[in-house]
Amino acid sequence: MHHKGRVIRKLIAAIRSPGEAVPQPPVDYPLEIEARLSALHARTPVRAHLDMLYGDVRVGHESYVDLYSRCLEHTGTALTPYTVFHRFQTRHDLVRYFLATLDIPGGRVECGAYRGATALLLCNVWRSRDSGYMGDGFYLIDSFSGTSESTPHDLIAVRDARGDTRMAPFFPPRKTDVTSEMVRGFFTGFPDARVCEGWIPQVFEQLPEQPWAFVHLDLTLYEATLAALRYFYPRLASRGVLVCDGSPFCPGAQKAMEDFCRETDIPYATLGHRETVLIKN
Ligand SMILES: C[S@@+](CC[C@H](N)C(=O)[O-])C[C@H]1O[C@@H](n2cnc3c(N)ncnc32)[C@H](O)[C@@H]1O
Repeated sequence: MHHKGRVIRKLIAAIRSPGEAVPQPPVDYPLEIEARLSALHARTPVRAHLDMLYGDVRVGHESYVDLYSRCLEHTGTALTPYTVFHRFQTRHDLVRYFLATLDIPGGRVECGAYRGATALLLCNVWRSRDSGYMGDGFYLIDSFSGTSESTPHDLIAVRDARGDTRMAPFFPPRKTDVTSEMVRGFFTGFPDARVCEGWIPQVFEQLPEQPWAFVHLDLTLYEATLAALRYFYPRLASRGVLVCDGSPFCPGAQKAMEDFCRETDIPYATLGHRETVLIKN
């Protein structure tokens, strides 16, 4: 058996001319993916798709699509034709994981909250199961000053008009259009939710030392994601879920999850929009 394998490998090597490169996976050009899908989705009846996908999914008395649309509107969070399917599909999965962990004692956190649209969705999901829920145990974390600097892991491939490829940062550091006061204003319906402002990892000093039942990391970059994994994973409760958002624009966040899980030998799943999910034993 081993001998046969060796022969096949030798044959393959002989067929390849010397110096021929091993085929590489195709390079992603996120800006081109975005341009192509934006053009496609701009002409597609988005609401009809969402209704077919999630029309019968209800959160309490409201449809999931209406509820999340309301949260996006309430927080002034703009979606583009490119991001709309990513948003509704990944947040639907988040809702499922969130509900599945509701019985686990501990905190819930949206780490990289931005305007709080997803955090508001999850607080409403909790209230759909407990009408008196006011946001207790829910934490929103953000610098409210944008991202820090990109590292080499965060660069995306960009192709110029001549077809030459270079690696470039996508997120301009320290750029935002929201403040923590604005976000607190969006959460007047959940006055006990805690908004924690600061850079990762220093901001974690504001958190109580406690187990966490549900963690959503949406930080876009490598270093912040890795630091958040190092903080939250050891504190994740048994059966707790940690989800890391994915996107072609965020190779660093995906690499942070890969590196962390390789170092610690933790298995995880990758879902349809490159989001990664782990469930603690
Ligand atoms: C993609 S947005 C989050 C979107 C949000 N989760 C939602 O669903 O609407 C990423 C957020 O991560 C925050 N962020 C990135 N790096 C950070 C860091 N090192 N410390 C704190 N916040 C950071 C940014 O300020 C930004 O608001």
